Amino acid sequence: MEINTIYNESTLCFVNKTPRSKESYEIAKRFMPGGDTRTIAFFKPYPLTIKRAEGAYLFDVDGNRYIDLLNNYTSMIHGHAHPFIMEKVQSILSFGTAYAAVIPEQLELAKILCERIPSVEKVRFCNSGTEATMFAIRAARAFTRKTSIIKMEGGYHGTHDLVEYSVKPPFSNHSNQERWKPIPDCAGLSSNVARDVYIAPFNDANAVEEILKKKQDEIAAILVEPVMGVGGVIPPKQDYLNQLRKLADQYQVLLIFDEVQTLRLNTGGAQKKFGVVPDLTAMAKIIGGGYPIGAFGGREDIMAEFNPYKTSFLPHGGTFNGNKISMTAGIAAMELLNDEAIQRLEYLSWNLETKMKAAIKMFQAPISITREGSMMNIHFTSKPPTNYAETLNQPKDLIKIIHIKLLNNGVFIAPRGMMNLSTVTSENDIEVTAKAFEKVLEEMSGLF
Ligand SMILES: Cc1ncc(COP(=O)(O)O)c(C=O)c1O
Repeated sequence: MEINTIYNESTLCFVNKTPRSKESYEIAKRFMPGGDTRTIAFFKPYPLTIKRAEGAYLFDVDGNRYIDLLNNYTSMIHGHAHPFIMEKVQSILSFGTAYAAVIPEQLELAKILCERIPSVEKVRFCNSGTEATMFAIRAARAFTRKTSIIKMEGGYHGTHDLVEYSVKPPFSNHSNQERWKPIPDCAGLSSNVARDVYIAPFNDANAVEEILKKKQDEIAAILVEPVMGVGGVIPPKQDYLNQLRKLADQYQVLLIFDEVQTLRLNTGGAQKKFGVVPDLTAMAKIIGGGYPIGAFGGREDIMAEFNPYKTSFLPHGGTFNGNKISMTAGIAAMELLNDEAIQRLEYLSWNLETKMKAAIKMFQAPISITREGSMMNIHFTSKPPTNYAETLNQPKDLIKIIHIKLLNNGVFIAPRGMMNLSTVTSENDIEVTAKAFEKVLEEMSGLF
């Protein structure tokens, strides 16, 4: 059967199962461009309208239930409406939500992060991962008195101008003459900003050194996700992060880990898991227990740039920085995320990967899976990709079919094949997902 026929059939099945989502989308289009307010949550023919979520499940407006294996792009590490987190949040709702003042919960969450995350000696709160990387970079620039950064091809760090380069370029600069040159991801970015960004392939410390040798005097920091998340859950090669650490020291630039997604890999984040301590860390998602949050922290001497007692200190605004709800939920979420919880996540994720790989083998599907801890990604590549260039040239229609067919079978993953587990995902959810995946591959087997 043709790809188009299978795609159209799967889409028709989706439309038949979700008439109310379709209706809701028609209304959304009247008020929001394309009916959308978050690019990554959109897919064709229309995104589901979710009415409520509980534990490991999402329920759409048509009453369909989905096993949530996306968890709001890794942030809902304890699933939805976790009773312990809800109880803590409910207990403070009548205290008001945000004041222009210090609150006790800020101190508590700050202490937890400083104690758990090796690089974090001092921390400040903001409202998103975007702000976290933006301020981490600003701190690095102020501290080093230099302005440029090295970022990785395929690395996602939020939506401020400086980092929206070479996230999803249509081609890879990897091996051509212009390999350092940033490619804007969209219109609307300042081309002046591009002068401050150098691009290196992920997992290639030599490429970083090549830039540093020539541009050391300009470069304030190397910015890297320890595991590339949005870029396809690509784990670091052995020693890669350590090599970056050494290069940063040798060339006197700072090393920033963007741990917005990877904090879930260990109680102390990927830096503890891999034993490499950066100078600064950007955080978000899980540390807010399901509420909006961001944080950045690191070496005391660098973070001192924000100390208001210092002459010409760095200002750091944000109306909802450190608000009562995000802090309270964050403390509860951190309390729940102990070593035992992470080990269970690791086991269940391994179990899912193993079962999916068995299905891939059974149908000889040209699929590979990348996984690090509880984060994983399906790729239509013969080998697991190790950098952005290796994720290119995948038949995009096939991943779209898997996505829509899994939805039709009650499993919610990212349209581009990313999955991650929560601490409330059950063994049965893994079993059901693996069976659904096997069924989907069987239905697609004529395409391989
Ligand atoms: C690694 C990484 N950094 C930064 C961000 C931006 O976070 P936010 O969406 O909270 O701005 C994300 C979001 O997915 C991310 O995955």
